[in-house]
Amino acid sequence: MENKKVYLITGGSSGIGLAIAEALTANNSQVISISRSEEKINRALNEKPQLKGKVDFIPGDVSNEESITQLRNYIEKKYEVIHGLINSAGVISVGNLQTLNSDDWQKMLDVNLTGPFLMTKTLLPLLKKANGASVINISSIAGLRPGTSIGYSVSKAGLDMLTRFLVADLGPYNIRVNSINPGLVKTHLHFDNDLISNQQDYDKMVEGARVRHPLKKVGEPQDIANMVKFLVSDEASWISGAIVPVAGGVTEENSFLMPKEDAILK
Ligand SMILES: NC(=O)c1ccc[n+]([C@@H]2O[C@H](COP(=O)([O-])OP(=O)(O)OC[C@H]3O[C@@H](n4cnc5c(N)ncnc54)[C@H](OP(=O)(O)O)[C@@H]3O)[C@@H](O)[C@H]2O)c1
Repeated sequence: MENKKVYLITGGSSGIGLAIAEALTANNSQVISISRSEEKINRALNEKPQLKGKVDFIPGDVSNEESITQLRNYIEKKYEVIHGLINSAGVISVGNLQTLNSDDWQKMLDVNLTGPFLMTKTLLPLLKKANGASVINISSIAGLRPGTSIGYSVSKAGLDMLTRFLVADLGPYNIRVNSINPGLVKTHLHFDNDLISNQQDYDKMVEGARVRHPLKKVGEPQDIANMVKFLVSDEASWISGAIVPVAGGVTEENSFLMPKEDAILK
């Protein structure tokens, strides 16, 4: 393991997590992923056969403390240390106070918020061993302002506060903690969480999002992976506590002030 970086990604079997896994396998790093379904792991290996043997896909559930403890024991025995923990696993159900049921609310808090808390807490001894580790929480622009789901926005706003809280807790161990807040990124998220059932509706949703992003494009998983690559690198060694939108400018979108079609100001 001499000189080899070890990165652990949650949800590395799909979308953003999978792109991060691919990006981090460069430089001969060891990448480990934890996710639940065998089917998605197989889908990932079909999409990216070059990752076969390069990413150690471990079955597990980030909302289950016992599962995380088993993962820690496995990593401790096989890899000894973790240089980077990237919490990317996430779920979403759409709804507001009146329409979201309490099971879906709880699921989003369990996976999107308690998951990163438990992962960081349980794996801390292995992060400390790196003497310069990085924790990155994949949050969302929905954590910065209300989005389409009350539970999702609350879980991601909580995740950003977890990031900020851990900065002072973990700084003395030379562990940096940062959030990345993506805008709309084309992944399996909306299909896999049953928000969308056909390609036509998906294309419509993506197009609607595209025009709301000032750069007039939605994101690709690689856009997020590029920021992860930077934040885990030595070039980012003085960055901790950053909440970084990687979102095509959509956080600063201001047409709500005066819809463009009504604009009278030149
Ligand atoms: N796509 C977007 O537009 C977008 C925008 C902003 C933020 N994000 C955030 O980016 C992250 C990645 O999303 P994505 O778009 O890449 O979604 P995705 O393609 O659906 O991937 C989600 C991954 O999380 C895993 N996962 C879900 N629940 C898990 C659990 N309990 N334990 C372990 N793994 C679990 C899934 O595998 P299993 O189901 O097999 O466990 C899958 O590998 C999420 O946190 C999401 O909230 C996405």
